[in-house]
Amino acid sequence: MSDLGRTAALVPAAGRGERLGAGVPKALRSIGGTPILVHAVHALASSRVVDLVVIAAPESELDDVRALFAEQPAGAEVSVVAGGPTRQDSVARALLTLPADVDVVLVHDAARPLVPTELVSAVVAEVRRGAQAVVPALPVTDTIKQVNAAEQVIGTPDRSSLRAVQTPQGFARAALQAAHAAADDESATDDAALVERHGVIVQVIPGHEEAFKITRPLDLVLAEAVLAKRRATRVIG
Ligand code: C5P
Repeated sequence: MSDLGRTAALVPAAGRGERLGAGVPKALRSIGGTPILVHAVHALASSRVVDLVVIAAPESELDDVRALFAEQPAGAEVSVVAGGPTRQDSVARALLTLPADVDVVLVHDAARPLVPTELVSAVVAEVRRGAQAVVPALPVTDTIKQVNAAEQVIGTPDRSSLRAVQTPQGFARAALQAAHAAADDESATDDAALVERHGVIVQVIPGHEEAFKITRPLDLVLAEAVLAKRRATRVIG
């Protein structure tokens, strides 16, 4: 892949965040006094390898999200589109809006606001070196069981071959677009799953503990602690 094209980041942010408890959509909950979505977009932009960011926001919040980035510019071009009923659909809607000169696409969950900028740069570098699809991941620390509908264990996969996958995931634009266009349902929980179905090799690179996803209330406590640690060492996220 040449260095001639631009790099875009799609940020699915349209989830309701029900596992966090009732209230505002997850991406608009604050940590350290700033909405989760703002942290995520600023992390992408401050990597300096992302030229534009397309946010898929809840339909009811489009004006508020646009206002957020008018007030706190991110240092990259930011546009906001309405997300869909599933994460996959939210990503597909953002993908449709990309200008022609974008050749590398990242997809990054708004719910991973503390992703280190070095991880963003590492994913883009791997795609620019020629990978069609790149995912950051960590080894799993729990033993994972497979269960049936009655919650009975039917298998214990070998832990050493399992990885917990994070975002940003990076793609050659053509590979991601082809995979989304060919998808026959909207249930994929990450974008790599779609390109895998096309026989595209997905390269794993080391993830980062601070790229964790905010899902449950305890994750908010952890996020506040990471921000406090960064502030204490003057690495503001
Ligand atoms: O639900 P989950 O935690 O897997 O969501 C991952 C990301 O996808 C979150 O940033 C969430 O806002 C986003 N999402 C979305 N549209 C949906 C559901 C989730 O953009 N309909």
